[in-house]
Amino acid sequence: MSGTAAPGPGIELVGGPTPGALPEPPRGTSERPLPIVMDCDPGHDDAVAILLALSRPDLRVLGISTVGGNAVLERTTETALRVLALAGRPDVEVAAGAAHPLEGPLHTAPHVHGESGIEGPALPEPVSAAIGEFAPAAMARWIAAADAPVVLVPTGPLTNVALLLEEHPSVRDRIAHICLMGGSITEGNITPAAEFNIWVDPEAAEIVFDAGIPVTMIGLDVTHRSIVWEPEREALSRAGDRVGPVVGGLLAFFQEFHERTYGWAGTPIHDAVTVAHLVEPGLVRTAALDVRIETQGRYTRGRTVVDLRRVTGRPPNAHVGLDIDRERFVTLLTEAIRSYR
Ligand code: BDR
Ligand code: CA
Repeated sequence: MSGTAAPGPGIELVGGPTPGALPEPPRGTSERPLPIVMDCDPGHDDAVAILLALSRPDLRVLGISTVGGNAVLERTTETALRVLALAGRPDVEVAAGAAHPLEGPLHTAPHVHGESGIEGPALPEPVSAAIGEFAPAAMARWIAAADAPVVLVPTGPLTNVALLLEEHPSVRDRIAHICLMGGSITEGNITPAAEFNIWVDPEAAEIVFDAGIPVTMIGLDVTHRSIVWEPEREALSRAGDRVGPVVGGLLAFFQEFHERTYGWAGTPIHDAVTVAHLVEPGLVRTAALDVRIETQGRYTRGRTVVDLRRVTGRPPNAHVGLDIDRERFVTLLTEAIRSYR
């Protein structure tokens, strides 16, 4: 079965305003260009997120940190360097971070991204090398040196971000916002209950959500509505001279998993939604809600338990994505890819 119907409507809230709602948008995020640090495990959709961020004059990518996730750390780091070569931006620093979660072994996702973590079209050879600094230390340095509060954009397991918060507490005040891809209110994708990024390192996720720093959770409820359908992918492939065909090829490979699993003739680009959310106010509809991370659970480890109906009375700790304007997202992406000459 194969379809172009996006999964149902976005999540609707019931009930009145949340007591103690988080300020909207999170503080510090009106600064332009907005300084961001991308923490990722590329990955097809991480690669698109990086390309989108680098194309935007209203964002300044201070550095890219890599983590073991979709593939082992050596692979995700090499891929980040290849994506920078593709973008013509080898000047952006890349720091390799945690090879495995805070507890236990790393689980990768070859069934989604292939063995290399980014199967499909050949990416250019790296023209730069990773700096020899552990990612959490490099992130702290980038944040401390920034001239404005920084937004962290994690699109992989949250191990590096948790280590940053624990080992470099002096920079916490300089982090305006953590806009992450991970979690879900409803379905999981690696288990029935859990989304991959949170499931790989729930202990790290708990540290991040409990840090008292504004978090935006772009979960599967939103990203499974960020689908680029086949005709749009073909248009994307033709956008821009160099980058369009490569991105088109990456999305064609990524679609295979989603076609097999969900029957979609298209592919979500989970991680790029985080970046899109930072540059297009109103693109993603969010609500301030309480989110707890299940670190135990016989069947539910790694689940983001979202108090959608506000039954706990706990104050919210996250802006949770509920829905996305899909067409605006695809337009934004296509324009970004077209801007590479
Ligand atoms: C997330 O898991 C990874 O496979 C993707 O890169 C994305 O960050 C989606 O669950
Ligand atoms: Ca990712």
